[in-house]
Amino acid sequence: MKQTPIISMKKICKVFPLEVGGEQQVLFDVSFTINSGEFVAIMGPSGSGKSTCMNIIGALDGATSGIYELYGKDITTLLPDELAKIRNEYIGFVFQNFNLLPKRNILDNVMLPLMYRGLPMSERLERAREMLQLVNLENFETYLPTQLSGGMKQRVAIARALAGNPKLILADEPTGALDSKMGNEILKFFKKLNKELGITIVMITHEFEIAQYANRVIHIYDGRITYDGPVPKSESVLLKSEQKARQK
Ligand SMILES: Nc1ncnc2c1ncn2[C@@H]1O[C@H](COP(=O)(O)OP(=O)(O)O)[C@@H](O)[C@H]1O
Ligand SMILES: [Mg+2]
Repeated sequence: MKQTPIISMKKICKVFPLEVGGEQQVLFDVSFTINSGEFVAIMGPSGSGKSTCMNIIGALDGATSGIYELYGKDITTLLPDELAKIRNEYIGFVFQNFNLLPKRNILDNVMLPLMYRGLPMSERLERAREMLQLVNLENFETYLPTQLSGGMKQRVAIARALAGNPKLILADEPTGALDSKMGNEILKFFKKLNKELGITIVMITHEFEIAQYANRVIHIYDGRITYDGPVPKSESVLLKSEQKARQK
């Protein structure tokens, strides 16, 4: 099967200006390609630059330098509304804290990304109901997010992410607010989406156990990639890659 690159980063750097003056460089020459159908974990300790990297992948923030191509299209220099359009069309987001609208019921929450698609209401409803079925929440349509457990909330967020039929799901610490049992359920679900529906998944985590659900690990340490390859048998491989980077 021919591999189609979905994400291609070339020498991406990110520098944040600091309020106290000066600046902080958070990403240094980050380069990688992610092909269609991959399940990739971006790993690294807290503060290493994972979320910054994810925000660039997800077209939520721009890079300071480098080239970022999504589906072969250079989006490094697009304007905010152009980026918003690309996000809506291509990417489903799942966040640690679910990011659901608290005063809207589950069905409304899942329909939300479809609002910008110009679909008739009946189609939006049908699609949202299909997605709720997929995450086994079809009997909870009228519930508010606050009435659900954390695991259920994350399933709603996944249904919402899938509603727009994205080829790519970006998940930032998707199990970070869940207990391990619920977390495992969510991870198994991602695995299933990847295997059975061929959805490309990029998941950020700081835990090796969670990265094991993926097929590839990109390890970031202090804003630099120190490992990129299959999920190693032991975390020590990743820790050694950090050590090597420190010695440079
Ligand atoms: N908007 C911002 N302005 C300034 N510094 C930031 C901003 N976002 C992140 N940082 C800094 O960038 C570094 C990496 O942060 P982040 O990407 O959130 O790491 P991670 O997700 O791996 O924990 C941290 O030192 C953080 O303080
Ligand atoms: Mg983070």
